[in-house]
Amino acid sequence: MSPEIKKTPVGIVGATGVVGQRFIQLLENHPWFEVAWLAASDRSEGKLYGEATKWRLKTKLPERFAAMRISPNTDTAAAPKVIFAALDAAFAADLEPRFAEAGCAVVSNSSAFRMHADVPLVIPEVNADHLPLIETQSWRKMSGGFIVTNSNCSAMGLVLALAPLQKQFGLRTVMAVTMQAVSGAGYPGVPSLDILGNVIPYIAKEEEKMEEETQKLLGRLDGPGGGRSAVIPAPFAMSASCNRVAVEDGHMESIAVKLEKPATAEEIIAAWKDYKGGVWDLKLPSAPEQAVIYMTAPDRPQPRFDVDRGAGMSTSVGRLRPCKVLDWKFTVLSHNTIRGAAGAAVFNAELLRAKGYISQ
Ligand SMILES: NC(=O)c1ccc[n+]([C@@H]2O[C@H](COP(=O)([O-])OP(=O)(O)OC[C@H]3O[C@@H](n4cnc5c(N)ncnc54)[C@H](OP(=O)(O)O)[C@@H]3O)[C@@H](O)[C@H]2O)c1
Repeated sequence: MSPEIKKTPVGIVGATGVVGQRFIQLLENHPWFEVAWLAASDRSEGKLYGEATKWRLKTKLPERFAAMRISPNTDTAAAPKVIFAALDAAFAADLEPRFAEAGCAVVSNSSAFRMHADVPLVIPEVNADHLPLIETQSWRKMSGGFIVTNSNCSAMGLVLALAPLQKQFGLRTVMAVTMQAVSGAGYPGVPSLDILGNVIPYIAKEEEKMEEETQKLLGRLDGPGGGRSAVIPAPFAMSASCNRVAVEDGHMESIAVKLEKPATAEEIIAAWKDYKGGVWDLKLPSAPEQAVIYMTAPDRPQPRFDVDRGAGMSTSVGRLRPCKVLDWKFTVLSHNTIRGAAGAAVFNAELLRAKGYISQ
């Protein structure tokens, strides 16, 4: 994109949280978007961002953002027409529709609308073709506004690893066991006395989200009379077990799959390495060079060493080996607050702008 093209003004609601801070970091020097408005809860309203947020990232809080004033979260009239939302689902259910009603494109991280029949749940490489669901939303018809969501952070890495296999060999059964980082629970999140030296075998509603979102993401857009008005979920059987572990960033997953067609290890690894996804030609700024990186070392991927691959946007896969119950098993690692949250939403917004749903 040439430098004279204007940047789109954007706002962030939920700007002070773990995902909100990642938005600030990723959008600081974004070539297409300019952060013009910030909001959080009523507790933060009226404060400077630098006072209201407890900055938890390793990069410095940029001064320009520290000096921005937090706006009321209901002031939809003053907000820019593109809103990145990083709110808990309960608040998102109330606030996100207000922005959509006011004509905003709401690019959401929360689970509140992910499974709504008229809301696209999108990973650009995997199912950009689900975006036309936007046209079925009542907000779109009333004001031009709409909601688009990215997936749950544990579904993200899984779906990027499964999509090339589904495409080439078909999927019959998927078993997933997660080891999820503490940053996935927001800030301050899980109490240190609960998680240090421990594993918690329960994350509320996570297994249900991982299962249903994976099938929606890998489903196909259809509808009565071929009307492209609904997503038919992918028909494979899927079971997830989710655990919280004492890792800062990076969700690791042990996966086993049964395929529709037989495949060799070489064919599976080639499917991952060659996977470009559907939007490679658009050259979107957040698109990783390699969507899925296959690691050959027997003890990789590991969160400490591999979570930032592809600037946190690549999914690392390793340990492909035969499974005595299903066909194959392997390990997946994905950055939960970048690829699984803020980076996913920024990537979705780039796709929306490239496809003309968001203007300059
Ligand atoms: N963390 C992850 O890895 C991850 C990954 C994928 C998706 N998500 C989803 O992203 C969303 C945000 O998660 P997070 O981890 O960033 O949570 P978080 O650290 O707890 O941040 C929550 C944000 O919401 C704001 N907020 C709280 N109550 C509010 C209210 N009543 N009205 C308006 N704003 C309110 C907070 O503002 P104050 O500072 O003013 O309280 C803060 O900005 C959640 O839906 C989560 O499920 C998170």
